[in-house]
Amino acid sequence: MSYSSIKVTTLTPHIGAEIGDIDLTKPLSNREVEELHEAFAAHQVIFFRDQKIDHEAHKALARHFGDLHIHVGPSTESRPLPDQPEIRALHFDETSEKVAGERWHTDQSCAPIPPLGSILYIHTVPPDGGGDTLFASMYAAYEALSPHMKTYLQSLTATHDGRRAFGPNAPINSHPVIAKHPVTGKKLIFVNRGQTSHINEVPPEESEAILSFLYQHCARPDWQVRFHWRPHSIAFWDNRCTHHKAIWDYYPNVRSGFRIQIKGTQPPIAA
Ligand code: SIN
Repeated sequence: MSYSSIKVTTLTPHIGAEIGDIDLTKPLSNREVEELHEAFAAHQVIFFRDQKIDHEAHKALARHFGDLHIHVGPSTESRPLPDQPEIRALHFDETSEKVAGERWHTDQSCAPIPPLGSILYIHTVPPDGGGDTLFASMYAAYEALSPHMKTYLQSLTATHDGRRAFGPNAPINSHPVIAKHPVTGKKLIFVNRGQTSHINEVPPEESEAILSFLYQHCARPDWQVRFHWRPHSIAFWDNRCTHHKAIWDYYPNVRSGFRIQIKGTQPPIAA
């Protein structure tokens, strides 16, 4: 893929690219937006450095990809801004008992239409390092399954129970175990440790064994990229084909920023 208006540096063979030669504090040209869409589809998570964006620039970037998603479910470790529920603060310090996203997960997979993607901007990082985020490619995880396992999983669906992450009254929805990305058409594994409770069509013991295998498989380092935050960095992940996990190794130090999610366009498609 060749890019004429932005610089795209691939970080691993399976997932992740850093985007340079772009200023997200200013309006973007059509060409920049087009190339961002291409890089996003190709690399599944794209990273930006040294972008001191305000809430308006953050929302403007998200809106180039769709409407803004509002969190479903009663509570989590991130907090909506009082006047802008589509922006959530992720602020953790010496008073925190938990942080958002410590388990491998897909954001809001319990929703009938999970978000298309999430854009996390971190302005304050812990002074001694730490607070990295891991991302994993569910395309690569799918491709590495044996042909027998691919056939077995192909027609199954699983329940995504929001109560696992967000407490009582969170949504519960079923999605295909193997989904097809609506833009790239590629197949991917669509179950995650954070929210998937069971596979619907098989007995509970079988579901537990298969999900346990899949969670370990999806978390293999072979298809991961690890992002080390600096102040004013951004990670923008495709929530339809990745898992991610936040590392909380910086207590009692502060890590702080804001996250916006983009509305999905359709429920996950059976592959
Ligand atoms: C999340 O799961 O959205 C949080 C990710 C992070 O804080 O790195």
